[in-house]
This record gives sequence, structure tokens and C-alpha cells, in this order.
Amino acid sequence: MLFGATRGMGRATARVLAARGERLFLLGRDAASLARSARDLEVRGAPAPVGTAPCDLLEPAGFEAALDAADRALGGFDTAVLSAGLFAPQEKLEADDDARRDLLAADFAHSVEWCEAVRRRLLARGGGTLCVFSSVAGDRGRKPVALYGAAKAGLSHYLESRDHADRARGLRIVTVKPGFVHTGMTAGLDPPPFACEPEDVARRVVRAIERGTPVVYAPGIWRAVMGTIRLLPRAVMRRVQF
Ligand SMILES: NC(=O)c1ccc[n+]([C@@H]2O[C@H](COP(=O)([O-])OP(=O)(O)OC[C@H]3O[C@@H](n4cnc5c(N)ncnc54)[C@H](OP(=O)(O)O)[C@@H]3O)[C@@H](O)[C@H]2O)c1
Repeated sequence: MLFGATRGMGRATARVLAARGERLFLLGRDAASLARSARDLEVRGAPAPVGTAPCDLLEPAGFEAALDAADRALGGFDTAVLSAGLFAPQEKLEADDDARRDLLAADFAHSVEWCEAVRRRLLARGGGTLCVFSSVAGDRGRKPVALYGAAKAGLSHYLESRDHADRARGLRIVTVKPGFVHTGMTAGLDPPPFACEPEDVARRVVRAIERGTPVVYAPGIWRAVMGTIRLLPRAVMRRVQF
């Protein structure tokens, strides 16, 4: 079951799963793009029908009904992927109160709410896999991503803590930390080094889901890059623009 697979890395991940013949169910906020995505996945090998249900990350009151629909269609899902999320440049988030509140809610508080709802279901049936897209932006406090990075830092922290506790109970939590990926979210931004395509990320994500890898950087070079950046003293972080 995938939430946020109508575009970007979620769509690329769903396509890899479809090509392997996995049964899929899609959650999203737009009925027309959900229907289009479902047909696309059927053509690519997912058993028909690929079901869909409405779910808006900004409306947590609807999460349980969406998960009920996925459970009914799949006979109890065993894997859940959350790639829905928001991004906006920091200047916009500083200037626009509504955009800032929406991003902090979507990328942290409501993402956690959705994960809690999934987690309760998976633990009740003996476990499964919860795969969530966070970001390298959450690995270190940095000037250009104070707000988006804070939301993703909180999300990564939550996922790590849950993974420590839940793995022994059969629930594997996979945290995906992409660097810059060419999707609609980054359209118009200058790509930094190591920018990659959603398909590159999707292959790594599906392998991580299979293996239950707790943290997957995409591309993999970001593990070393962020490992180094985490070690830099504050005095250095204050001087650099990164
Ligand atoms: N792209 C990057 O460089 C990058 C880097 C690090 C981390 N990430 C993270 O990776 C994840 C996927 O990013 P992406 O680049 O693939 O993004 P994307 O191409 O913009 O796709 C985002 C997806 O989220 C859905 N979505 C957005 N707001 C929603 C809402 N309120 N309710 C339901 N669905 C909603 C969109 O659905 P609609 O089609 O309905 O809009 C779309 O399917 C995000 O969590 C992002 O923060 C991205």
C-alpha cells in the first residue's frame, strides 16, 4: 500500500513493485490522478484492479478510513510506503504562514499520525514493513532548510525510535533519506552534486523494503557526506552556506 505514489519517487517505487507483480493499493488526495496511476501500474504488471482511496496528508481525520479501504482490498496490507510530502523554499516558508504550517504538519505531525495508525494495524497482525521518505535535510541543522529540515529531523527521530522498539515485535521500519532528486518537488531548483533520478531511488527503496534495511540513503554517497557533515563543529556550520 502506497501513500503519495501519483508522482515523483513514490510513483517510481510503485512502478518497480508493479513490474514485480506485487498487489498494490494507492492512497492520495486527487481521485483523477489516483485512477490514472492505478491504470498505469496495472499496465506495468500489478494485478488488476489496483484499488485506490482518498487520503489527504493535511486531513488526518481521514487516515483510518483510507487504511480500512486498503485493508479490505488487500486482505490486510503487510507493507506501507509513505512518500507523500511537501517542500517549499525557505523564503516562501518564512513569508507565508499557511504554507509553513501546512509543511510542518504534513512532513512531521501528520506523517507521524499516519505512521502511528499503520503501526497499530501491523503490530496487531504480527508485523510487516513501514517505509517512510524522510530526507538528508533532517540529518543536521543547516541554514537553508531550517523549517523543512526540522520537520524531517523530527520524522527521522520518530522513525528511529519506533524501529528500536518495534523490530523485535516483527515491524520493520525503513527510513529513506534522499538527497536532491529530480522530481516536481525540485523543479526549477539548481541541482547540487549527486542529484539523481526517482528511478535510481526507487530501486534502492525496494531493495531496502525486501531486506528491512533501517536507513537507506539515496544515492548511497549521501551516507558518507552526511556522516561527515554531522561531525562538523557549529563554528564551521555558521560560516558555510550549505
Ligand atoms: N525530491 C527531492 O529532492 C527530495 C529529497 C529528499 C526528500 N524528499 C522527500 O521524498 C518524498 C517524495 O518527494 P518527491 O520529490 O517524490 O515529491 P513529489 O514528486 O512532489 O510527489 C509528492 C507526492 O506527495 C503527494 N502529496 C503532497 N501533498 C499531499 C497531501 N496533502 N495529501 C496527499 N498527498 C500529497 C503528491 O500528490 P499530488 O499528486 O496529489 O500532488 C505526490 O504524489 C517527500 O516526503 C519529500 O519531502 C524529496
